[in-house]
Parts: sequence; structure tokens; C-alpha cells
Amino acid sequence: MSTSLEDLFAFLRFPSISTDSSHAADVRACAGWLVAKLSGMGLTTQLHETARHPVVVARNVHRAGRKTVLIYGHYDVQPVDPLELWHSAPFAPEIRDGKIWARGATDNKGQMLAHVLGVESCLAAHGELPVNLIFLFEGEEEIGSPNLAPFLQQNLTSLACDVIAVSDTGMVAAGTPTLGYGLRGISCCEVTVRGPKSDLHSGIYGGAIANPATAVARLVASLHDAAGRIQVAGFYDDVRTLEDWERQMWAAIPATAEENILRQTGSPSGFGEAGFSAIERLWARPTAEVNGIGGGYQGEGSKTVIPAEAMAKFSFRLVPDQDPADIQQKVKRHLEAHCPPGVHVEVHVGHDGMPYLMDPNSADAMAARRALGRAFGKEPVLTREGGSIPIIQSFKEILGADTLMLGLALPDCQIHAPNENFAVENFEGGIRLNQVLLEELAK
Ligand code: BES
Ligand code: MN
Repeated sequence: MSTSLEDLFAFLRFPSISTDSSHAADVRACAGWLVAKLSGMGLTTQLHETARHPVVVARNVHRAGRKTVLIYGHYDVQPVDPLELWHSAPFAPEIRDGKIWARGATDNKGQMLAHVLGVESCLAAHGELPVNLIFLFEGEEEIGSPNLAPFLQQNLTSLACDVIAVSDTGMVAAGTPTLGYGLRGISCCEVTVRGPKSDLHSGIYGGAIANPATAVARLVASLHDAAGRIQVAGFYDDVRTLEDWERQMWAAIPATAEENILRQTGSPSGFGEAGFSAIERLWARPTAEVNGIGGGYQGEGSKTVIPAEAMAKFSFRLVPDQDPADIQQKVKRHLEAHCPPGVHVEVHVGHDGMPYLMDPNSADAMAARRALGRAFGKEPVLTREGGSIPIIQSFKEILGADTLMLGLALPDCQIHAPNENFAVENFEGGIRLNQVLLEELAK
């Protein structure tokens, strides 16, 4: 096995699940491994404590007159359940069929390490980099980066940079280099619906009192009309209109055809707002999704009960110029107003993140496009992303720098799901990309 793969395997063996407090020591041990790796490369490296998981910062010797590039990534991962669906253990990486199988293989350890190893090989070859470099790695991306924006505020001078590079997004198809220039934002909330003071016999009381699970179903159903349009009052007020050049450019990317999306997902047909193609709905239109729903008996067979309580978890993907805080208030009002009689609803507002959009023709974006072209031997496509990385808009607001999104995640990489994997080819391509990226950005 190559030393690059050995490094990746070592990095993947840490179960650095940020949301699960029983794994806090594993998250910390993973940060410790990174510190050792980065300082071993001759970079000045520091582990910074936060209220929860540590931030790791590393830099070369900065010289006046050179561009400063910040590379961001996250070393935390999502939980692994349902564990029984994995073909190999999530924290015991394996290579099969040209892919590395492990939790975090793509999101984000494999992509992040491609940055590190690309830089390592430049340092080994030239003893020096063409730019002032800052590596910024956090352990809280998968829980919404609660401590990173404050960390940026507290370290404005030492983190000052001209441009940011991140590999934590998608590549539209294997062999098609991809520059992302936009992300959706997000706004999360949870409802608890309560009715009777305890679970009840559904024969003795059914018909006389309201069922909280039925009420949750009504709330869920109230979010869309039959044509897939979101019914929250004012939801679309600030949505920026999609431009013709983007529609045309995206339509010309073969991988974005609706049948591809159906094949990747196994869904029988598409869904969503009329008047927009599937890729437009994914990249430039907002959504309302139910991420979890529950209440009542979930065991084998039937149980005739009216549950005392039922719940649902929602997330809304947002696009420029929607404001997550504004959407949270509108959604809360909607859910309270649509709660049927006979039950009480409580809406708990959750975490959120801003959408992001930059100019894919800026000088730095052109440099990233040249680097992608050199590393993958093909002109890159320009995309937005359906997913969210909330800190990227905070980078813009706090550090004043744009983020080049150099995605290496393939459509079948199964991030956040069982059997997450990273194509070895993309790991190697990512390392090549980082060998040329700094050089192009320095031009
Ligand atoms: N790397 C993903 C986001 C992503 C994946 C963007 C693929 C584009 C393409 C990131 O780690 C992630 O999962 N983010 C969360 C953010 C949330 C926890 C605030 C998301 O999008 O759900
Ligand atoms: Mn993720």
C-alpha cells in the first residue's frame, strides 16, 4: 500500500463522531493525529481548544508579497447507524473495487487528506510553497460548526487570507472535474405534538379526542401543495431568480439529467416544483424535507393505542437571498397556525446556515479551473451544490474571502449513509490537484 493510503487508513480509523459525546475522546485523538502529521511536514501547527471539539491550524513561514491561501476541512464524521447494513466495519477501512470503504472516506477525511498530501509532496519536492498557506481543520462541521465562526472572529489577523479552498463537495461524475460556486443554506426545526396526558386505548377513546400522530401527519402534509410548491407564507419572497446562463450551462452537463438522478437514487420518478429541471431544483431552489417522524407503536404486529405524543424533524434547504433566521420564524408561524384542534404543538428551532454564491469567473476561480483541468486532464464543469457548508458564507462575511469548492465526492460515495466510500482514483486525483492548485493560485 502507498504511504498516502496508509496515512488515510490511519486517519479513518478514528471514530471521530462529533455529535456523540461518548466519542469526544476519539475526536480529540483524531485531532492529535493531524497535529502530528502536519508538524511532521514542517508546518507550524497548533491545536486550539473550543467549547467542544478542537480546531487544528497549521501554516508555513509567511512572506510579504505572496498570496495567502486558506485550506479548510473537517475531521469529524457522521454517526454510522444502521451498522448492520455495512459490508465492512465503518472504522476498519478496506479497499474493494477501487474504492476505500469507511465512514468519513469521502466526507471529509479523504478529501481533506488529499489537500494535506498534495501540499506535503510540494514541500518535499521544492522545500517551499509558492503561497502563504493556512490549514484550518475543525471537528464540528457535522454538527453545524457552532464554535468555528467565533474562532474566526477571535483570530482575524492570523487567519487573514486572500482566498479559501475546500474539497468537501461533489464531482458530478467520475472523471469530470467540478468547480462548485454555490451552496444551499439550511434551517432546521423539530415539532412535538401533545394530546392526551398518556397513551390511550384507541377503542375506548378513539373518535372522541384528537390523535397527535394524525396532527403531525397534517403538519407534514401542510408544507407542500400537490405540485410540490412550499406553502409557508412568504417562503419564496427572497429567492433569487436563476439566470439563463446557469440554466443553459447546467443543462449541458450530461451527468445532471433527471434519469441519472433517478438511477442513482433508485426512485421511481422525480418530485418537486413545476417549471424547473431536476438539477435546477437541487442547486437553485429551496426545499422542505422531513428528516424524521415518529409517535405511537413501532414494534411488531399491531397495538391499538392513541399515542400521547408524536414528533417530526424538518430541515429547509435555502438559496440566495433567503435568510435562515427569517425562514425559521416563517416556518414556526406556519406550523403553529396549521396545528389542528385538540392537540398542542411546540416548535423547537434548530441550527441553521447561510447559502453561498460566488463568481465562477473570478481570477481565483479561473486559477482553480486551470488546476482542475491539469489534474484531471479535462475542462471542469461549473456547478452549485444542494448540500450545505454553513461556515463558507461565514468565511466570506468574517474573513472577506471567497471559497473555491473543489469537489471530489462521487454520486455513489454514500456520505452520511452505510458503506461510505471514496474512489482511490479521486484520492490520487485530489493529491495531484493540490500539487498544482497553489502554483495556479500564485500566478
Ligand atoms: N460535505 C457535506 C456537504 C456537501 C456534500 C455539500 C455534498 C455538497 C455536496 C457536509 O459535510 C454536510 O453534510 N453538511 C451538512 C450541513 C449541516 C449539518 C449543517 C448538510 O449539508 O446536511
Ligand atoms: Mn457531511
